[in-house]
Amino acid sequence: MKYRQLGASDLQVSEISLGSWLTYGVGVERDSAAACLDRAFEVGINFIDTANVYGRGAAESVLGEALAGRPRDSYVLATKLMGDMGGGDKGLSRAQVFKQIDASLKRLRTDYVDLYQCHRYDPDTPLEETMEALSEVVRQGKVRWLGFSEWSPQNIRDAFAIPGVERFVSSQPQYSLLWRRPEKEVIPLCAANGVSQIVWSPLAQGVLTGKYDPASPPPPGTRAASDSMGAPIRGWMRPEILQAVQRLKPLAAEAGCTLAQFALAWVLREPNVASAIVGASRPQQVDDNAAASGLVVDPALFARAEAIVAGLPART
Ligand SMILES: NC(=O)c1ccc[n+]([C@@H]2O[C@H](COP(=O)([O-])OP(=O)(O)OC[C@H]3O[C@@H](n4cnc5c(N)ncnc54)[C@H](OP(=O)(O)O)[C@@H]3O)[C@@H](O)[C@H]2O)c1
Repeated sequence: MKYRQLGASDLQVSEISLGSWLTYGVGVERDSAAACLDRAFEVGINFIDTANVYGRGAAESVLGEALAGRPRDSYVLATKLMGDMGGGDKGLSRAQVFKQIDASLKRLRTDYVDLYQCHRYDPDTPLEETMEALSEVVRQGKVRWLGFSEWSPQNIRDAFAIPGVERFVSSQPQYSLLWRRPEKEVIPLCAANGVSQIVWSPLAQGVLTGKYDPASPPPPGTRAASDSMGAPIRGWMRPEILQAVQRLKPLAAEAGCTLAQFALAWVLREPNVASAIVGASRPQQVDDNAAASGLVVDPALFARAEAIVAGLPART
């Protein structure tokens, strides 16, 4: 496993990291979640991503239990706030920052997180209020570094312009061969300001592993076949997208790797990406994905892959 510097922070994060959206605490059994985490540490993954809103606290609780026996300084832990936690608790107000960080720390069984991310921009709270509250939880020692997820370039510029507050070091956008939106503005803006990307759904929720045959229903045991996890992947399950993905398989074979590894190596070719956050429902997927770190792929193969997926209809 190779490691990259996370923006202007002092954190070194593994190029492949493990996330917990839809999986741990929701669609994946506790034992399988613990087995995936164990395997992640075995293969050198040191970076774990979650959010308060995943399973309304359930993902953080599962992680808290699974991580409890490990030295706290042996992994980099990231969580987020903003999503609706019920009872009117949502957003990035000062009161929510203080309430949600304490609740996350309790579930995660730790007294600090390495990275605290604004899950989305909150149009209902003045940005200054959010940045000052976040800066306070950093100064209290509950949070080491700050990040945001899916903020517009204008949101990001506005945050950079506020004086006297802690700086963001990470941006968490969706980014994959099938979703290249951050390339135009977010990546250059962040690269110029000490902010790295830690990207979500780098495998388009499993579609970029090539396991979904356009002519057949999703195989049992996959996210697309799951009642509890299957809704968000539906936008990707279009015949033209699945057919294009099948045409990527020979390129991965030429590169001497699996299609999952090829897709992850493609994401990691961008120097501003510090880590690709993958999900995993079983330890074998962790092995497959972790092996993408350090893979050297001929850029001509990536160019051919980009041409195959160019012009696909937008995900619905
Ligand atoms: N900031 C945000 O708004 C946001 C949004 C979404 C996600 N995230 C973060 O990003 C993380 C990753 O998102 P994601 O789960 O959509 O990522 P992903 O890596 O694109 O998809 C993960 C899923 O694909 C399948 N898979 C993974 N590796 C595989 C392999 N080698 N072979 C076959 N199937 C494989 C597994 O599902 P099955 O086995 O069930 O098919 C797995 O759960 C999340 O856990 C979360 O931490 C953030």
